Amino acid sequence: MATFRDNLLAGKTAFVAGASSGINLQIATRLAQAGAKVTILSRSPDKIEAAAQGIRDKGGQCIGIAQDVREFDGVGAAFAKSVEAHGEIDILVSGAAGNFVAPFNSLSYNGFRAVIDIDLVGLFNVMRNGFPHLRKPGASCITISAPQAIHPYPLQSHVNAAKAGADMLVRTLAVEWGSSGVRVNAIIPGPIADTEGMTRLAPTPEAMEKSAKGTPLQRLGTKDEVADLALFLASDAAAYVTGAIMPCDGGLSLLGVGRVG
Ligand code: NAP
Ligand code: COA
Repeated sequence: MATFRDNLLAGKTAFVAGASSGINLQIATRLAQAGAKVTILSRSPDKIEAAAQGIRDKGGQCIGIAQDVREFDGVGAAFAKSVEAHGEIDILVSGAAGNFVAPFNSLSYNGFRAVIDIDLVGLFNVMRNGFPHLRKPGASCITISAPQAIHPYPLQSHVNAAKAGADMLVRTLAVEWGSSGVRVNAIIPGPIADTEGMTRLAPTPEAMEKSAKGTPLQRLGTKDEVADLALFLASDAAAYVTGAIMPCDGGLSLLGVGRVG
C-alpha cells in the first residue's frame, strides 16, 4: 500500500551532512524513499559507503562522500560533486555532531573546540558552501539541533554552546535568505532510541529508562518519527514555514533542564 511519503519528493535532490548513521541516516533514507536523489556525507569512507549502499539496496538513489565538515574547502568540493551527480539542491540537511559527557572544569581546549568545530563551525561550512547550489526559490534547509540548545544541561557546556549558536544561525539565515525563497528550519530531537547520542548520554539501561520516563509522553522517540518531521519540512506542505525550531521530543522541551549520565 502506498504511504503519504511515496513520491512526495519525486524529482528533488537532497544533501545530508553527517549521515552515515543514526537520526541523519534515517532522514536521508526517508528522503530517498520519498523519491529524492540523495547525497550523504560524513568522515569515515567505509561508513558512508555502507550507508549509501544501504539506501540503494532499498531502491533509493544515493551517493556517499567521505568528508569532515570541519574542512571548509573540502565541504565546498563535496557540494560540487553532489551537483555534478544530481543537479541543484532542493533539500539541505545539516546534522553532523560530536558529543561526550565532561564537566566544564576538566574539558580541554581541544575537547571544547572539537564540538564547537563540528556542530557550529561545521554548520557554517555546510550552509556557506551550500547556498550557491540551492534551488532558488524553493529550497528547504533543515538543521538538527538538540535540547541542549534551549536548556543548560550539566556536563554539556560544549554542546549547549554549540547547539544554541547553531539555532541562532538558523534564525539569522531564515531572515537573510528569505528573499531568495530559501527556507531554513531546525528540528530538536528529544531522547531517540537506538542512537549513538543516547548511548553516550545515557550509558546504562537505568539511565535510558529515566530519559524515557522524563518526557511527558513517557517514552523514547524513534528515528522514524524525526525523519517524518524532516520530510514535512522538506516538502511543499511546509512552504510557509521558515525560522522555526521544532521539537520532536515527546514534550521534553516543556520541562526544563535534563540530566545526563
Ligand atoms: P550519530 O549516529 O553519531 O550521527 C552523527 C553523524 O555525524 C555520523 O554520521 C557521523 O559519521 C557524522 N559526523 C560526526 N562528526 C563529523 C564530522 N566532523 N564531519 C562529518 N560528519 C561527522 O548520532 P545521532 O545520535 O544519530 O545524532 C544525530 C544528530 O541528532 C546530531 O546532530 C545530534 O546532536 C542530534 N540529536 C540526537 C539526539 C539523540 O537522542 N540521539 C537527541 C538530540 C539531538 P562519521 O563518524 O563517519 O563522521
Ligand atoms: N571527555 C573529555 N574530553 C574528551 C572526551 C571525553 N569523553 N572525548 C574526547 N575528548 C577530547 C580529547 O581528549 C581531545 O582533547 P585533547 O587533545 O586535549 O586530549 C579532544 O576532545 C578531541 O578529541 P579527538 O578524539 O581528537 O577528536 P575527534 O575530532 O577525533 O572526535 C569527538 C570528535 C571527540 C566529538 C568524537 O567523540 C566523535 O567523533 N564523535 C562523533 C560521534 C558522536 O559524538 N555522536 C553523537 C552525536 S550527538
